[in-house]
Amino acid sequence: MEALDNVIIMDHPLIQHKISMLRDKATGTNEFRSLVSEIAMLMAYEALRDLPTEEVEIETPIEKCMTPFISGKKMAVVPILRAGLGMVDGILKLVPTAKVGHIGLYRDPETHEPQEYYCKLPSPIELRTILVTDPMLATGGSGSDAIRMIKEHGGKKIKFMCIIAAPEGLEKLHRDHPDVQIYVGHLDRELNENAYICPGLGDAGDRIFGTK
Ligand code: PRP
Ligand code: URA
Repeated sequence: MEALDNVIIMDHPLIQHKISMLRDKATGTNEFRSLVSEIAMLMAYEALRDLPTEEVEIETPIEKCMTPFISGKKMAVVPILRAGLGMVDGILKLVPTAKVGHIGLYRDPETHEPQEYYCKLPSPIELRTILVTDPMLATGGSGSDAIRMIKEHGGKKIKFMCIIAAPEGLEKLHRDHPDVQIYVGHLDRELNENAYICPGLGDAGDRIFGTK
């Protein structure tokens, strides 16, 4: 796949190592959940490198100084339910003051089209950097719909973070929302006939929550 503007594919060995552990079908729910959280934290470190800062005066034990703090209305994290929830706590460890919204979407098992069932976003959302999380970007339908919903509520500065993407989904998301920065942990080979990512890691929601 050719390089796309606004698409950032991670190459850090720590992220790649943890994604490899996630893929292994022998990895159980507890470890899977921890890995998703750790990967989200490592990816957020990269995705948030352009958060605006402002100089504030503080007093160290030695003297007063001006020093940078994250400025303004800061951030919102918006997981796509269910699997995106697994990425939230890792990000909140980095930015504990972020507000959290939720978008409920599930893929219809036959058509693979996203079906909307919930949307609650922090208000006002216009001035926040919004980090949308979902471990899997397969056809791109869910991610694209979630971003459309956030834009309809006034969201402007939107970033999308997924752990594994298929080329088909990445191209769709970028085509539908070229203004959105997309952070990808690993770009996989393709989708299979059931729209699952290959080699992928299976059903992320089921593996995080221990359902089937
Ligand atoms: C999975 C995944 C994404 C979506 C990706 O969710 O977490 O939201 O599928 O597929 P797409 O790119 O083809 O839309 P799922 O619908 O299985 O719901 P769940 O997280 O509640 O299990
Ligand atoms: N959703 C998942 O959880 N896994 C896939 O491979 C595709 C969609």
